[in-house]
Amino acid sequence: MLYFVVTSYIFRKSRIDELREIAEFRIINSFNNLFVIDTDEGFISKLANHRPVFVYSAFPIMVSMPIRKEKYIESIEEAALRTNPEPGKRIMAECFDVNSKEGYSAKDIEVRLGRRLESMEFQTDLKNPEAMLYVVLMDMVCYAGYLNVDKMDKPFLNPERHYLKMGGRISRAELKLLEALDEFQIVSEGIALDLGAAPGGWSRIIAKRGLKVIAIDKGELDLESLDKEGVRSMSVSGTSFSCNEIKKLLDSCDILHIRESAAEVDPSGMCGVGLLLNDINTGPKESSEILKRYVGCLCDGARVIMTVKCIKKKASTYIRQAEEGLRGQLKVTGVRALPSNRQEVTLYAVKRHVDIPDTEK
Ligand SMILES: C[S@@+](CC[C@H](N)C(=O)[O-])C[C@H]1O[C@@H](n2cnc3c(N)ncnc32)[C@H](O)[C@@H]1O
Repeated sequence: MLYFVVTSYIFRKSRIDELREIAEFRIINSFNNLFVIDTDEGFISKLANHRPVFVYSAFPIMVSMPIRKEKYIESIEEAALRTNPEPGKRIMAECFDVNSKEGYSAKDIEVRLGRRLESMEFQTDLKNPEAMLYVVLMDMVCYAGYLNVDKMDKPFLNPERHYLKMGGRISRAELKLLEALDEFQIVSEGIALDLGAAPGGWSRIIAKRGLKVIAIDKGELDLESLDKEGVRSMSVSGTSFSCNEIKKLLDSCDILHIRESAAEVDPSGMCGVGLLLNDINTGPKESSEILKRYVGCLCDGARVIMTVKCIKKKASTYIRQAEEGLRGQLKVTGVRALPSNRQEVTLYAVKRHVDIPDTEK
C-alpha cells in the first residue's frame, strides 16, 4: 500500500533510519523531506506506536495516476474521485502541490475539487469536515486518498500552509512554536517565560493566547509588529527584580522584555511560571544549563518547550545532551523534528515538584 510521508527537512539519514525501524518500505517518489513509500497496510498505527522523532505524518494513498499535461486539472479530479468519497459526509478537499509547474495553486485545485464534489451533490465543509479528500501532486503524478478526519493523526497535508493559515504573519521561528504547541497539545495559563526571545515571535504568539510573558534576550524585540497587533510590551534592563516588581511591571504590559542574557538574570523574583520557552541559539549543553536556572520559577505541571540546536547533522548526540542536561529537574516527554525545525529538534518537558525517578525518564 502507498503512503505519503512528511519527515524532517534536515536529518536525512536519521529520517530514513527511523522509517526503516518502523517498517520495511520502498521509496516510490520523493522531494526533499516528502516521500511516497510502498509498505504494508497498518503503517499509520505502527508510526503512532513508534513515537517517532524524524517522521512527522503519514497519509494512505488509494489512487496514483499520472497527470496528463493537456488535461491537467481534469486528471487530478479524476484521480481524486476514484477514491470513492462517501455521500452524506461533510468533506474537505486538500491539495499538497509538491512541485507542479502548471499554473494552478494548491488553493485553486482545492476550490476546483470542492466545486466538483458539490456538483455531484456531496456536502463540503472547510471548518468542521468529517472526512478529507486529499491529493498530492509530485512529478506529474497525482496521489489521492480519502479518510475520515477522526482517523487522521494530523488533519492537514502541508504543515507550513496549515500553520500559516492559523497564525497570520509568521516567521519560521513562529511556525516552530505553533507546530510544537499543537504537537504536544500544550495549553497553559498564567505567566510564560521566553528565553532567547528576540525578535519576539514566540512571545507574540503566547501573549496573543492570553498569557503574560517575561521575555529575556539582549536583542531587541520587533516593537512595530507587536504594536500593530495590539500586544503591549515594555523593555527594562537589570538582572535582579523582586516578585513584586515583576508583578507590577507585568500589570502594565503583555510582554515584559528584560534586555539581558538569560545566563545572568536572577530568576528568584519570577514565580508562577506555567510555560517556559527556550529558543536560545546555542548548543544543548549550555542551553539546558541556562534553562535549569529557571526551573525553580515553574509551577507544578508547568510545560517546557526547548529547541535543541544540533550543530552537526547527527541529532541523537545533541538530543542526549539536552536530556541529560535536564535530568532530575524536568520530565522530558517528547522530542520531534518539526517541519519548521531546520538544524534543530524540539524538546517538550513537564515540571514535577516531586523527584522524578530515573525509570520514568
Ligand atoms: C532563534 S533566536 C529566537 C527567535 C525567537 N524565538 C522568535 O520567535 O523571535 C535566538 C535568540 O537567542 C538569543 N540568545 C542567545 N544567547 C542568549 C542568552 N544567553 N540569553 C538570552 N538570549 C540569548 C539571541 O540573542 C537570539 O535573539
